[in-house]
Amino acid sequence: MSFVTNSWYVAAWAHEIPVDRPMTLRLLNQPLVLFRDDAGQVRALEDRCPHRGVPLGMGSIHQGAIQCIYHGLRFNGNGTCIHNPHLQGNPGRLSVRPYPVAERHGAIWVWTGRPELADTARIPDYGVFDPGRSDYRVVHGYMHVRANVQLVIDNLLDLSHAEYLHANTVGTPGSAGSVSNSVSAGELSVTVHRKVFDLPPSAVFKPLWTATERIDQQSDMTWHAASSLFLDLGIMPPGGQLQQGFHFPSAHLLAPETDRSTHYFYAVARSFSLDDDTLDERIRATFQCAFGEEDRPVIEALQVSLDEAPKHFRMIDFTSGDGAATRVRRILDRLAHEC
Ligand code: FES
Ligand SMILES: [Fe+2]
Repeated sequence: MSFVTNSWYVAAWAHEIPVDRPMTLRLLNQPLVLFRDDAGQVRALEDRCPHRGVPLGMGSIHQGAIQCIYHGLRFNGNGTCIHNPHLQGNPGRLSVRPYPVAERHGAIWVWTGRPELADTARIPDYGVFDPGRSDYRVVHGYMHVRANVQLVIDNLLDLSHAEYLHANTVGTPGSAGSVSNSVSAGELSVTVHRKVFDLPPSAVFKPLWTATERIDQQSDMTWHAASSLFLDLGIMPPGGQLQQGFHFPSAHLLAPETDRSTHYFYAVARSFSLDDDTLDERIRATFQCAFGEEDRPVIEALQVSLDEAPKHFRMIDFTSGDGAATRVRRILDRLAHEC
C-alpha cells in the first residue's frame, strides 16, 4: 500500500520539542528534523544537508536557524541557507526542503505533500485536547509500533476485540452479547458507533466508578484521513445519559514511519478527578499496558503473519469494525493515488 502524502501527520507533542536543540524523526520513510525558530515556532526540514548529505539533526541551533555539524552551513525555517562560512556572496542559492507545520491541540502537525495544498482546515478538530482547558485534563504519550499504519487503524476501529484481548484491563465482560453497533461515513471520515448496555465496568473503570454496580458504555471511534482517530468514550448508569457519568475521550494520532512501522501519539482527556496527579500516571500505565503489552504484540505478529501469508489469503469482515476498516482502506487507496 502506498503512503498518502497529501495529509497532515502528527510528528511530536508540542511540549516535547526543546528550544535549544533539534529533534529528528522519520515520516513516510523520509528523514525530518524539527526545531524552534527565533519566535519559538516549530519548523520542519528534510534532515539532509545539501552540501554533503549529513543529517542536519546532528547540528545545533543558532538564533533560530539550524547549523550543520560538518562544515557549518546554516538554514532558516524556510530551508534557505543563510550562512556559508566557505563562500563569498549570497549563500541563499543552497536550500533544503521545508515541510509546512501547524501547532494544533497540543500537537505538531507536519504536511508531507504538495505545499500549496497544506490547508490547516484539514486538521481534525480535537479541541477537547487543547492545552489550558479547565473542564478537561489531558495525559499525553507515545508508542512505536513495528507494523503498517493500516493494521493499527484496523485495531482501533474494531473494539470488539476488547472483551478478549483486554479482558484484564479495558475490556467490558459480556459486551459481545449486549452491544449496538453501526457505521457512518463521510468523504474523509468513518465512525463506528458502539454502545454496550447494563454490564459490569471494565477492570480499569471499576476502582474509578463507584456510583452503580453496572454501567452503559459508549465507545464511538471516528477515523479522519489519513490516520487520526478519536474515541468518544463515556460510561454512565444503565439507561442514563453521559452527563451523569464520566467522559473519557482519547485521540490516537498515527503517522507512518515506514511501510512497516508507525508512530502512535495518544492523548487521553477526562472530565473527572481533574486535580488528581496520581491518576495521570495510572492512565499512562493503563494505556501502555492495554496497547503496549496487549494490542502491540498482536499487531506486530499479525504484520509478520501477513507478510508470510500465501497470495490467496484474504482477511474476512464480520464485525462492524472490520467493515469500517475496509471502507477506510478504500478511501486511503484513493487518496494515495491522488497527487
Ligand atoms: S555536510 Fe553540511 S555543511 Fe557540509
Ligand atoms: Fe485494543
